[in-house]
Amino acid sequence: MHDWERIQREAARSLTRLLPRVAQAFAEAGGAAGEWNVFEQRLRREWPRLFELLFGLYGTQYDFFYHLEQLLLAMAQSWLKRPDWLKQRDALREADTEWFQSERMMGGVLYVDRFCGTLARLREFIPYFRELGLTYLHLMPLFEAPEGNNDGGYAVSSYRRVNPHIGTTAELADLARELDTAGISLVLDFVFNHTSDEHEWARRAQAGDPDYQEFYFLFPDRTMPDAYERTLREIFPTVRRGSFTWRPDMQRWVWTTFNSFQWDLNYANPAVFRAMAAEMLFLANLGVAVLRLDAVPFIWKRMGTNCENQPEAHRIIQAFNAIARITAPALLFKSEAIVHPDDVLSYVSPQECQLSYNPLLMALLWETLATREVKLLAHSLSHRFRLPPGCAWINYLRSHDDIGWTFDDNDARAVGIDPWGHRQFLNAFYTGRFPGSFARGLPFQENPDTGDARVSGTLASLAGLEQALAGGDPQAIDIAIRRIILLHSIVLSIGGIPLIYLGDEVGTLNDYGYVSDPAKADDSRWVHRPLRNQVAMDQRHDPTTIPGRIFSTLTRLIHLRTSLPALRDGMMEVVRSDNRHVLAYVRQTGSQRVLVLANFSEYPQSIAGNLLRMYGPGLELFDLIQEQPVSATTALTLQPYQFVWLTPSWQR
Ligand code: GLC
Ligand code: GLC
Repeated sequence: MHDWERIQREAARSLTRLLPRVAQAFAEAGGAAGEWNVFEQRLRREWPRLFELLFGLYGTQYDFFYHLEQLLLAMAQSWLKRPDWLKQRDALREADTEWFQSERMMGGVLYVDRFCGTLARLREFIPYFRELGLTYLHLMPLFEAPEGNNDGGYAVSSYRRVNPHIGTTAELADLARELDTAGISLVLDFVFNHTSDEHEWARRAQAGDPDYQEFYFLFPDRTMPDAYERTLREIFPTVRRGSFTWRPDMQRWVWTTFNSFQWDLNYANPAVFRAMAAEMLFLANLGVAVLRLDAVPFIWKRMGTNCENQPEAHRIIQAFNAIARITAPALLFKSEAIVHPDDVLSYVSPQECQLSYNPLLMALLWETLATREVKLLAHSLSHRFRLPPGCAWINYLRSHDDIGWTFDDNDARAVGIDPWGHRQFLNAFYTGRFPGSFARGLPFQENPDTGDARVSGTLASLAGLEQALAGGDPQAIDIAIRRIILLHSIVLSIGGIPLIYLGDEVGTLNDYGYVSDPAKADDSRWVHRPLRNQVAMDQRHDPTTIPGRIFSTLTRLIHLRTSLPALRDGMMEVVRSDNRHVLAYVRQTGSQRVLVLANFSEYPQSIAGNLLRMYGPGLELFDLIQEQPVSATTALTLQPYQFVWLTPSWQR
């Protein structure tokens, strides 16, 4: 008998055994029969897959079936508690699984405390979010975390209690509902690779509870840490060397991939999987539409590897996905894998993460801005942009994190670029050390051993606005604004969900104040996590101001996009422009076709008429950006950093 058949028989047997018990518990807890039927139907549908995944991960554990039963009970309980409006969402999303593949999808991200202080105040900004066209709002980590340095909330002490400085869990649930009514999906983090060292599980481990010590990776001496470190990559080398932290109180080394107060969870322990599944379902029932799965590459450790992107990491996420399909079907996952593009892609599928950050596009847009040449971007996109059906990129220009140069070395070599030297150049360029650079960024995590570094900075400061303002040169300011708009025009037209870091829409600059806060001083990412700039926001309707120029152009593009079905989903074809400074791609849906041309240099560039005739549909075209006809019978001149969205004139 094949392994698969054997496992499926086992799956069927165990379901027969477990279902009556779970049904009984459901009924005893007051669950209605109709509700149970919905649950049971979904459970039966997903069970073969869920069982196989869990069996592969934990089938050899002596108490595997105990964990399985506990998991099912927790799922049923969570379904019982799921609010009605979310159950309605579930039905709606199941009937339209690709609802997010839409020209109307538009994302924003912010830190509640930095943006407006509290959840209560955030509600006052819903009109602003609507003005921007947002349909997706990612609130950065807002649950309890240690005071002082907590890695921007990524050291979570409770997945259920909102940080009291920000508000309450009840307010968060109310906000989710209110956002939903405004057409905005709530996105929250699921920081599941680690907890803070103040999480109850970590505290119990510190107090000597053996069950909770098995939640983490604890070692009495350096033998295992040394063995692992032979092949590990250091993530925060300027904060602390290596990936382990000595806890004198416990006389143990603890695995801490990130900061010493972020303890990696041990997913080889089924109790950890189960505990985190319960936290996930709690978040889902608050009204979260998308969970951002933090640091996915790191969740499974294997000796002799870099402990990133292990096959089990995928299985764990897929098992969470199956659980969500049963108990909270409206919930989507977004993968945060800022690694090699092949590995980024490996997390994206309807059975794993339906959404993923697109760090390659992000990094290469900056690369193109620095070099003024589109060859690496065009080549990489031509074979790395397509996703499996039912999945979408989150296309962003910068996040709360640093920018790392995660392009593929062979892609670089294929277009005549030396990858190592190029990364050195890009770091020098974006930290302003390269002569003639327009950028004002800061280095992040420079590793003296490897020469690696990443870059921090706001969109506007990296694009040259800060330097131009300091120089007081109106032409340089104009050019910087054009760069900012150009970058946005790409994420708005290339397909997937565009994501704006709130503040960038009004040209917010770097904030160097973080250095005076000891909890932040050694983490340069704080330079691009400034407080809300109300002055700039108030100027957004005044076209004589810089915020006004940026905001009005951006909102115009965002609203224009909502009328162009061709810009939805991810079907995108990079085409020749025969000009090394101009990126060209075609978007098409049904009969609508849009040719995008984007000039990445500060000089006018020309595109031959025959290319317009080849890729642009028809002889008479219309540029939706300038709102004017373009004839494909002659060459087209693009002004510095100009972009056009060309449709046939008859499509207008
Ligand atoms: C993710 C977050 C980052 C954090 C890290 C550890 O990469 O984006 O800010 O430092 O995970 O949680
Ligand atoms: C995490 C960190 C980010 C880093 C990346 C490296 O995502 O947050 O800063 O660049 O890991 O993989």
